[in-house]
Formats: sequence, C-alpha cells, structure tokens
Amino acid sequence: MAQISNQKSLKSIFGITLMAAILGLTACSKPVDPEVKARQDIMKNFGDAMKVMGGMAKEPDTFDAEVFKEQAAFLAEESKSPWGHFENPETMGNAKEAVWSDADGFSAEADNFQKVTAELNTVAQTATSIDGVMPEFGNVGDSCESCHTDFKVEKD
Ligand code: HEC
Repeated sequence: MAQISNQKSLKSIFGITLMAAILGLTACSKPVDPEVKARQDIMKNFGDAMKVMGGMAKEPDTFDAEVFKEQAAFLAEESKSPWGHFENPETMGNAKEAVWSDADGFSAEADNFQKVTAELNTVAQTATSIDGVMPEFGNVGDSCESCHTDFKVEKD
C-alpha cells in the first residue's frame, strides 16, 4: 500500500516537474532579445521626439524654439544608433526579412535618415517659427515612413 502511494506521489511530482519544464520552455521560446529591445527602445524615443515636434507642426502657436531644438538635436545624435542592433537575422522582432535580404536598401534608408535628421538639426538651431523648420521636418517624417514601409512589419 505504502509503495503504491509513493509511486503515485512520485508520478505527480514528475507531472509537476514536466509541466514546469513545458511552461518554462514556452516562456523561453519568445525571449526578448536584448538587441531587438535595444533598437525598439531607440525607435520608441524617435517616436516620442516626433510627437513633440509634430504637435508644434499641427499647432504652430505652440512652437517652442528651445524644445524643438532639443528634439531635433536628439534625433540627429541618435540617428546612427539603431542600425548596429540589426546584426542577427535570427532575431527579427518586427523587422522584415528585407532588412537582411536587401541590406543595401536598408542601409541606404539608414544613411538617408542620418542626412535628413542632420539637416533638420541645422535649421532648428536658428528657427523662430515652425515655418523655419519646414520642409526639413517633413523630410524626416517621410524617412521614418519610407523605411517602415519596406522594412518594418505592419502592426496595430
Ligand atoms: C532605416 C529604417 C528605419 C528608419 C529610418 C526608422 N525606422 Fe522605426 N523601425 C524600423 C524597423 C526595422 C523597426 C522594427 C524593429 C524591430 O521590431 O525589431 C522599427 C520600429 C519602430 C517603432 C516600434 C518600436 C517598438 O517598440 O516596437 C517605432 C515607434 C518607430 N520605429 C519609430 C520611428 C520613427 C519615429 C522614425 C523616424 C524619426 C523611425 N522609426 C525611423 C526601421 C526604421
């Protein structure tokens, strides 16, 4: 009798261990790759900067030269940052395969982004109204969009 119940509890212990292993595996099958997280975090910050500047573009009365300058400088400074985090084709995140299969196209988009953010930063230094940063601000928005169209998976 005692042996049987021992076997039973052994079985259930195995069962629990197995469950944990399966759950553990499931949790591990979608790890947040640090490289993916790094580039997504930078992109999120890009999004925040664009929101601040875009708000001023929508409501020109709210133009704040200092704030705009800060955001434009941030984009220009960080414009080189994401691209080194796209080394590994195994960790795609929401990037399309084209990032790797069309590496030249992707790096052309990245180069253009660095160019247009530098141009925006230059005009932002002396701008006294939103008119002073157009069309450079528009070019930056176009650059985000153009790259996303070809290289980022549609979400939301
Ligand atoms: C050269 C290409 C390229 C440019 C330029 C670019 N992005 Fe991205 N962006 C991507 C790719 C690829 C992803 C998907 C990354 C991933 O999930 O691994 C992405 C993801 C994002 C995300 C989602 C981040 C998340 O949390 O998953 C936001 C927000 C974003 N980009 C905003 C911007 C903004 C704003 C700009 C312009 C100021 C910009 N991006 C410029 C390629 C680009």
